[in-house]
Amino acid sequence: MTSQTLRDARKYEETMEKMIAKDERPAFHLSTRVGWLNDPNGFSFYKGEYHLFYQYHPYDSKWGPMHWGHAVSKDLLHWDYLPAALAPDTLYDIEGCFSGSAIELPDGRQLLMYTGVQKKPLPDGKLREVQTQCIAIGDGIDYEKYPNNPVLDENDLPEHGSKYDFRDPKIWRHRDGTYRCVIGNCTEDKSGCILLYSSPDAIHWKYEKVLAENQNRFGKMWECPDFFELDGKQVLLTSPQDMLPKGFEYHNGNGTLCLIGEFDEETNTFTSEHDQSIDYGIDFYAPQTILAPDGRRIMIGWMQNWDTCNLHQSNKNWFGQMSLPRELSIKDGRLIQRPIKELEYLRCAEVRYEDVSFTDTIKLDGINGRRIDMEITLRSGDEQNLYRKFAVRFAQNDSYHTSISFRPYESILKIDRKFSGSRRAVIHQRRSLVRDRNGEIKLRIILDRFSVEVFVNDGEHVLSATIYTDQSADGISFFVDGKVTMDIDKYDLRDGGNV
Ligand code: FRU
Repeated sequence: MTSQTLRDARKYEETMEKMIAKDERPAFHLSTRVGWLNDPNGFSFYKGEYHLFYQYHPYDSKWGPMHWGHAVSKDLLHWDYLPAALAPDTLYDIEGCFSGSAIELPDGRQLLMYTGVQKKPLPDGKLREVQTQCIAIGDGIDYEKYPNNPVLDENDLPEHGSKYDFRDPKIWRHRDGTYRCVIGNCTEDKSGCILLYSSPDAIHWKYEKVLAENQNRFGKMWECPDFFELDGKQVLLTSPQDMLPKGFEYHNGNGTLCLIGEFDEETNTFTSEHDQSIDYGIDFYAPQTILAPDGRRIMIGWMQNWDTCNLHQSNKNWFGQMSLPRELSIKDGRLIQRPIKELEYLRCAEVRYEDVSFTDTIKLDGINGRRIDMEITLRSGDEQNLYRKFAVRFAQNDSYHTSISFRPYESILKIDRKFSGSRRAVIHQRRSLVRDRNGEIKLRIILDRFSVEVFVNDGEHVLSATIYTDQSADGISFFVDGKVTMDIDKYDLRDGGNV
């Protein structure tokens, strides 16, 4: 039985979606049907389609009582909205249905596991939000909350585990047919940890152990964990809050963390060998992955960040979009991310240049646009003297631009949206230490109306950022201090269509 709260949300979103013109949205990135979107949830392949749910507040373009929005896609680029899947309508989730994941049950139904939030009194009488894990089972459109929710609560925590920060279950099926999930938690000093649980049927859960402990190395609380095998290694992804910067690897605030290591299944022991940021740009958080039917591990993230999400204009009735889905692999102990290959089917109107040598500033015929896939292969244009700085400016007109610049002497790549038209004092720049050989570097830049994603050297580093510059600013220009030679392969990208 759908509740009145869910029926109201479904009716509201259906009406309001019509008020948003197609070209006011990203073309092939999933954006919220209306109102607010944050984390991807329940990323899954079910009944022949990809399903993506999301943290959703339909009634405002700001965060509010969390529902789960829902969309489906055959290619991860063309999305069709389905009615909202969950609403905060039951005592144990009345303050919000927080992030979680999805799995298909052996009987063909789909199970959603999410965090229910409710307020409970503290000894002094004040109310505080408590988080538990809940289940809803359905057919890909309608989901029934499990009558014995919550399925995990404060009684299922390790000693000193926090019942206030206990969220974001990511579920998977073990090869013996039983289930596992990882959940974000923290100790009394707010330092994050990831808990492992097991279940014979995805409904009755048992606490196993602390899988990973932050010990205050990477921020504080760890949100939205994901745990999977990739190229013979084991990967733990999480999104830490309250990070301190470390060189060019981690920045202040909300960040992303990828730990790569080994997992001993006998003892459930994860040993981390490498750590890195997942995304080095400004807007990326809370990613979730899926093992696609063809064996690819695909990750999608919220292309936003809690520290910068007041950048948008408040007069818009939508806010929040996902990143491009990315194919993951591991090379030399690093996470490699490439845009999903399906993106190539949206390519049209190719423009190619080879061996363009220049000094100073140039524009090239046919190189412009706000929905493009452009690969730049750059090398030094002078055997004796390495260039000092290269920059590509895009979303450009006389007043505005955003830039990606590279300084080979320091191997620093910088994204800068200071001149994108933003009137807010939020972070506009970020630097990343990348790899180059004598100034040789490859940049694949993907623009989709309100965003830029840069894949460096075939996915060794990725930088994502949202930009809200007027769409008429579609110029692209290149600048160099010194001399470079570059090849460019640029395509327009057809509309993926949100509906
Ligand atoms: C991460 C997060 C999750 C939580 C959700 C609430 O962005 O804070 O930990 O479940 O957002 O919307």
